[in-house]
Amino acid sequence: MMSVAEFYGRWPDYYDRIATAPGVGRWRRATAEAVASPGDTVVEMGCGTGANLPYLREQVGPDGRVVGLDITPELLDRARQRAVEYDNVEVLRADATRPPFGDAGTGAGTDIDAIVGTFVCGMFEDPTSVVDDWCDIVGSGGRIALLDATATEEPLGRPLNPLFRIFTAVGAPGTTAWDVARAPFGGVDSALSERVAASRRALADRTVERRYETFALGFVGLLSGRVR
Ligand SMILES: C[S@@+](CC[C@H](N)C(=O)[O-])C[C@H]1O[C@@H](n2cnc3c(N)ncnc32)[C@H](O)[C@@H]1O
Repeated sequence: MMSVAEFYGRWPDYYDRIATAPGVGRWRRATAEAVASPGDTVVEMGCGTGANLPYLREQVGPDGRVVGLDITPELLDRARQRAVEYDNVEVLRADATRPPFGDAGTGAGTDIDAIVGTFVCGMFEDPTSVVDDWCDIVGSGGRIALLDATATEEPLGRPLNPLFRIFTAVGAPGTTAWDVARAPFGGVDSALSERVAASRRALADRTVERRYETFALGFVGLLSGRVR
């Protein structure tokens, strides 16, 4: 089966267009504002083409630091181009499920104030332990924001759930033609939704001062909190 990096590495321009589509910037700004303040060091897990980096940089300002990491080199190339205009934004190739911070790390630092993950938690086999690790990395008082898409419960959006499920199935690594065919009835989106739900539960277990807001008729949810 194709790996995540092989899957995303095929069409970096296509993913960048989706990542920067009109309206998406509002969700990204809200994510950055939920957890980052001037002077902070913020890490983005699974930064893709770096669409969040300008918003995170805007929040931390010239005295802060932003580090984006991802496992797909072709997307990181695009993120690196975005980062080049700032001297306090960097990107590195690393696995968000085993981030290189701490003693055995790259030196990117353990003084991390916040971690952001957008549209990435649904890709982890064990999102609970990943989010748990992220909470350990930022430590007590640190902040985490998770932005993810799932089928919606909002009445106005519900009729669009089958379309959303097809979009999700086509855009998920490892999806078969059979997965796409049964997507309108659940299938791939159910797996994704379960992982997103698990990541949100993990964050809720470890944090206080949580905030949850939704966008796009409830298809997109932003959960943020401060580690207790
Ligand atoms: C749907 S894209 C989202 C990209 C970006 N966060 C955004 O909001 O535009 C998912 C990203 O997660 C990355 N990814 C998936 N699993 C990863 C892992 N274990 N470690 C690092 N990056 C990962 C993929 O390479 C891809 O860039």
